[in-house]
Amino acid sequence: MAKDNIKIYKGDIIFTKTPDKFESIEGGYILVEGNKIKKICRELDESCKNMEITDFGDKMIIPGFVDLHLHAGQFRNLGLGMDKELLPWLETYTFPEESKFQDTRYAREVYLEFVNALLESGTTRSVIFATLHKEATDILFDLINQSGMGAFIGKVNMDRNSPDYLIENTEESLEDTEYFIKKYANSSELVKFIITPRFIPTCSSELMTGLAELAQKYKVPVQSHLSENTGEINWVHELHPESDNYLGVYDKYGILGQDSAVMAHCVHNDNKEIEIMKKKRVFVAHCPTSNINLSSGTAPVKKYMDNGIDVGIGSDISGGHILSIKDCTAYALQASKIYNMYVDKNSPILKTSEAFYLATKGGGKFFGKVGSFEEEYEFDALIINDRNADKSLEERLQSFIYSGALSDIERRFCAGKEIKKI
Ligand code: GUN
Ligand code: FE
Repeated sequence: MAKDNIKIYKGDIIFTKTPDKFESIEGGYILVEGNKIKKICRELDESCKNMEITDFGDKMIIPGFVDLHLHAGQFRNLGLGMDKELLPWLETYTFPEESKFQDTRYAREVYLEFVNALLESGTTRSVIFATLHKEATDILFDLINQSGMGAFIGKVNMDRNSPDYLIENTEESLEDTEYFIKKYANSSELVKFIITPRFIPTCSSELMTGLAELAQKYKVPVQSHLSENTGEINWVHELHPESDNYLGVYDKYGILGQDSAVMAHCVHNDNKEIEIMKKKRVFVAHCPTSNINLSSGTAPVKKYMDNGIDVGIGSDISGGHILSIKDCTAYALQASKIYNMYVDKNSPILKTSEAFYLATKGGGKFFGKVGSFEEEYEFDALIINDRNADKSLEERLQSFIYSGALSDIERRFCAGKEIKKI
């Protein structure tokens, strides 16, 4: 083995290869070459004997968290407006806040705070909605790039049913989108562009058709919202009586299946939508905090998993009130109990390993080989000083998910490199 560029990390390692169980090695080793894991083992073989080891002792080494859906432009609204449902919440709190990103000084100040808070929370990869503003979105790209985290970032598209102070004309929306595609979509950097129609009600047919053409031409992924709230779903049916379901409207424009897509929420999807999701490689961003805060409902996560649909966890700030995916994982476990108690008694609750899988490898799949400690996976990791080493590794992780502090996260790595606040 070429020794020069291999790094060896030692500690109490725990991760999920599959949702059903944890893999753990106490005092194990992870060998990293460049950005990727070469090997994970209990003992080092002879060829590694004289190599330098970074020994984290009995601290836990876990994969970095993946946030599959969040709104950077809503960061300052965290914890506000939780007394409303989706549509009035958007009108009253969210649109006015997002409109402030017209001001690039405000954008830089808030996005800098946001990027540091995201990194501090233990998220190493995320799929982000910025706002519709081009300059502010460029600033967010720069800051996330500086941080060393991986991300897909989207400039939001919205050209109808939006307030006068937060709306674009169709042509400009498409031009600005193409600008970002050309600048970032095929970048070898960790930060890439993703096409981001806000949701069907705010996007005209002309805009959706144009975005689908761009997705097709440049093979760019797409993110949006789907079947979050019943008021929203009824509105989509009124706007598009020709389609028998919400996802069918996206699909009709040809925006699905060009590259992968993430749809946030998916609380009320019907079986026909589930069939389209399977066929078109749609990832579900499960947003348990937001779905409860905005009284949207509880998503049938197990049903998606059982149907072979890819699922990850989204903080959906500021519909969600917490940026930390660690905390959202505990909420995902609780939401599955609510689903079991009040929606479908036959739907089993999520196991801790399943929820942790969603928060790491489940969402990580959107980025490629990310979110697990397997060979050829990119090395995204958190070093956790949980001061609980007398317990089993599974118990320690469970305790960290439910009750750990963010200050327990001592170090963070993304794609093989240590990352720090900027
Ligand atoms: N649907 C359209 N826009 C939004 C948003 O900003 N947040 C949430 N949760 N749902 C949306
Ligand atoms: Fe959202």
